[in-house]
Amino acid sequence: MNADDMKRQAAEAAIDYLPRGGIIGVGTGSTVNHFIDALAAVKGRFDGAVSSSEASTERMKRHGIDVLDLNTAGGLEVYVDGADESNRQLQLIKGGGGALTREKIVAAASKRFVCIADESKLVDVLGSFPLPVEVIPMARSYVARELTRLGGNPVWRENVVTDNGNLILDVHGLEIMQPMKLETEINQLAGVVTVGIFAHRPADVLILGTPQGPRVVEP
Ligand code: 5RP
Repeated sequence: MNADDMKRQAAEAAIDYLPRGGIIGVGTGSTVNHFIDALAAVKGRFDGAVSSSEASTERMKRHGIDVLDLNTAGGLEVYVDGADESNRQLQLIKGGGGALTREKIVAAASKRFVCIADESKLVDVLGSFPLPVEVIPMARSYVARELTRLGGNPVWRENVVTDNGNLILDVHGLEIMQPMKLETEINQLAGVVTVGIFAHRPADVLILGTPQGPRVVEP
């Protein structure tokens, strides 16, 4: 079984976590694309979705799923999204697809966060995956110097502009022993819009696709 099959398996298992009625949040990425495809078959069960990216919005609309603005939707029952890494406390690194800011907002507005991934995403310590940081364009060099001071090696993701009109720095070489502390520190740098550590608001459930079938991890 390859990684994409495991992503699909986790995505399909997440359908069991949908509420009857209410509005759901939908993340971004290749795992979530499988989830959106599976959602199409059950779209009568919920009242619409809030999306974390233009790409997911477009895919949901193609399936005839109602996409709502978060400002009018209010609180969300559940948020389903992928991750680049998860530790055993379900603290995550996200933003490989560049959608981290909207993902963090939708996760914050949701009662329950169901994370879906293939089994390779579960790690002991976060940081092997380069940590994405969304920055205001004029702050790029300043923030990069500050991230270097924090022990990382930031690399500008060139030719990428986020849905919010900002830039991404990918920080290599971090071993994130205290995710909440580092999330707070990086978020406080002037010019940082969002850091891709999801530790203050971790996932509530992690569904991993594995060759033996879906595995549910709870903290
Ligand atoms: C996008 C994300 C994705 O959830 C993360 O990159 C995982 O992607 P994939 O499901 O393609 O492995 O955070 O910003």
